Amino acid sequence: MIRAFDTLSLPLMRWLDPEDAHRLAIQGLRLLPPIRPKPDDPKLAVRAFGLNFPNPIGMAAGFDKNAEVPDALLRLGFGFVEIGSVTPIPQGGNPKPRLFRLERDEAVINRMGFNNDGADIVLQRLASRAQLGGIVGVNVGANKDSLDRVADYVKLIETFAPVASYFTVNVSSPNTPGLRNLQQAAILDDLLARVIDARERVRTKAGDSPVLLKIAPDLSLSELDDVVHVARSRRVDGMIVSNTTLARPSSLRDQAKAKEQGGLSGRPLFRLSTRMVAETFVRAEGAFPLIGVGGIDSGGAALTKIRAGASLVQIYSSLIYKGLRLVDDIKTDLSSTLLRTGREQLSEIVGADAATITAEDWPVK
Ligand SMILES: Cc1cc2nc3c(=O)[nH]c(=O)nc-3n(C[C@H](O)[C@H](O)[C@H](O)COP(=O)(O)O)c2cc1C
Repeated sequence: MIRAFDTLSLPLMRWLDPEDAHRLAIQGLRLLPPIRPKPDDPKLAVRAFGLNFPNPIGMAAGFDKNAEVPDALLRLGFGFVEIGSVTPIPQGGNPKPRLFRLERDEAVINRMGFNNDGADIVLQRLASRAQLGGIVGVNVGANKDSLDRVADYVKLIETFAPVASYFTVNVSSPNTPGLRNLQQAAILDDLLARVIDARERVRTKAGDSPVLLKIAPDLSLSELDDVVHVARSRRVDGMIVSNTTLARPSSLRDQAKAKEQGGLSGRPLFRLSTRMVAETFVRAEGAFPLIGVGGIDSGGAALTKIRAGASLVQIYSSLIYKGLRLVDDIKTDLSSTLLRTGREQLSEIVGADAATITAEDWPVK
């Protein structure tokens, strides 16, 4: 059924304005019949952050910003879904157009600017599906005009703790002016201290919620030293590497669209974000697991990300070009690789190539 859906919808979607196509995809998923997902190969199960993931493929933040279709996505075979970014107060985001397809590069540029329905509405949606189970993470961000951005994150942790399988503290969106400054060591230290403190305060009432930190791929290695150091000392449960990049590789073929402001994602992000996964992995020294995201568009690419150091992966942009069948294709590929190489679990290969990757030349920007 997914293949039939892809065959019909992909050509139509590409013909539409990207943001209209996204809205249509969400509407389509809302209408998805309550099919039962195929059971996953038990070898693909991953335990991380105290959670049991049925498979390692997650829907990345930004697709279902408002928690409209997390259960449809889980039914389609994702092992977990990250909703958001959510901000405390609803926000319209940047003026349109703000989403661009670079078709020949299988890439996307977006400058959405945290458009979302706000915490109250998103909380209602998550509360109404809470008994359905499945791993649904909540990605939190600050309002553009907030006078105290750290307080926004704290408020969101307190609000969503009862319904979030995990939290992602997003300090890496390039589309909210100044947000990425929260990655600076002293500011990040204060932010994480207050976020972890909030999590502990609500723990008895709301249960445990792992806190993950999502970073930009554009950090320098000395900035990454600081970020990982702070994340370890504040005992975050994991990191997500990475968000979109501000870089514009000269290899981009759609040079006209490449001039649009915003974050670049999809295939051209793959090498840089994979390098950052490996660099983070060697610095984390096993203190916490990583989620690798950026340009994954095949089973081979997912495997490379895992061998670079990711225990789990997420995808977004490639779904626009490859369709929803990609989730199944990646899982099938990972299963057959495990079978072929006589391994019992993916965890056996996490980070196997990190040292080699970090010794390579820096990916050309
Ligand atoms: C249209 C769009 C909106 C996004 N919105 C968010 C967001 O709200 N919060 C966030 O942390 N990441 C957001 N992202 C980044 C993705 O979660 C992901 O980190 C990035 O796109 C790299 O993965 P990909 O190459 O598989 O798309 C967005 C990406 C796209 C393309």
